[in-house]
Amino acid sequence: MSDINFIVNKEKCIHCGLCEKDCGSSIIELNEERIPQIKKDDEKYCMKCQHCLAICPAGAISVCGKNPEDSDICDNNLPTDEQVLSLIQHRKSIRSYRHENLDKATLYKLKDMLKYSPTGCNNHTLHISIVEDVETMDKFRDVANGTINKFLSLNISAPITKKFGKYRQKFLDGEDIIFRGAPHMIVVSVPVSAPCAPVDPIILLSYFELYAQSLGVGTLWCGFAEIALKLIPELCEYLDIPDGYKIGYVMLFGKSDLKYQRATQPEDYDMLQVQPKYYYKLNLWEKFKRYFWNSLR
Ligand SMILES: Cc1cc2nc3c(=O)[nH]c(=O)nc-3n(C[C@H](O)[C@H](O)[C@H](O)COP(=O)(O)O)c2cc1C
Repeated sequence: MSDINFIVNKEKCIHCGLCEKDCGSSIIELNEERIPQIKKDDEKYCMKCQHCLAICPAGAISVCGKNPEDSDICDNNLPTDEQVLSLIQHRKSIRSYRHENLDKATLYKLKDMLKYSPTGCNNHTLHISIVEDVETMDKFRDVANGTINKFLSLNISAPITKKFGKYRQKFLDGEDIIFRGAPHMIVVSVPVSAPCAPVDPIILLSYFELYAQSLGVGTLWCGFAEIALKLIPELCEYLDIPDGYKIGYVMLFGKSDLKYQRATQPEDYDMLQVQPKYYYKLNLWEKFKRYFWNSLR
């Protein structure tokens, strides 16, 4: 038996064909009795997304060893759009943290949510390293800051000096410019070969950030920590990042030491409404420009 393990309870099946319609890989078909099935040869195309289990009105489909009765029911008990917008509007990058651990229940909630983040082709192979206690974070911080300090104090025009730019002196003066005193950190890495490698970790951390906000936990996307991890391979060992994986991104988190009084007022983006147009064939130069500017840069 394959690990897809697509099982239909024929007594329960109402032959509606919704599973066939909703299958992202288009491999479910209905047999002559309108019972869904997947051909042996097609099983390898299954993304294991479990949409068939989720869409079935009768709870007749089990897949990947999952019993539909163990699934949470979609009861439309969703937060209102105002609540979701408020969560988004009031999120802020937090650069000042309490030097204390989050409680275990909050950490558990944050970690348990991660599996719901979507990935390209449902490639569920992200690697997540979490620093769960402030002591470990302090050790990590010391090693990273110490090594970067050595680079920066050489005062040569190395790329790293450039990257730290205006923060260089503050860093040398001992300010925790990279980790901002955060007690926790989550690092998402991704197999180099994953179909949507550059995007999956970012989506996961975006979910993480908003859920953290709902739990009263502050976060900071941390480009500097990403640079540090790329420059100091020993740090990747410290975080147990497997061979064949590359760093996706880094986020710091913990209880904020600040309380914002109001939302910011960011400018609108340029937004152009696309109009129906005649299909226009590009000449060679226009094509080159498109490829070059949009894809190759
Ligand atoms: C991809 C990314 C990387 C970032 N890296 C850092 C960083 O290394 N250090 C830092 O202090 N802020 C970092 N930030 C925070 C941005 O400066 C911040 O999002 C921006 O100023 C807007 O502020 P807000 O997040 O409070 O709305 C980063 C943000 C993003 C999205």
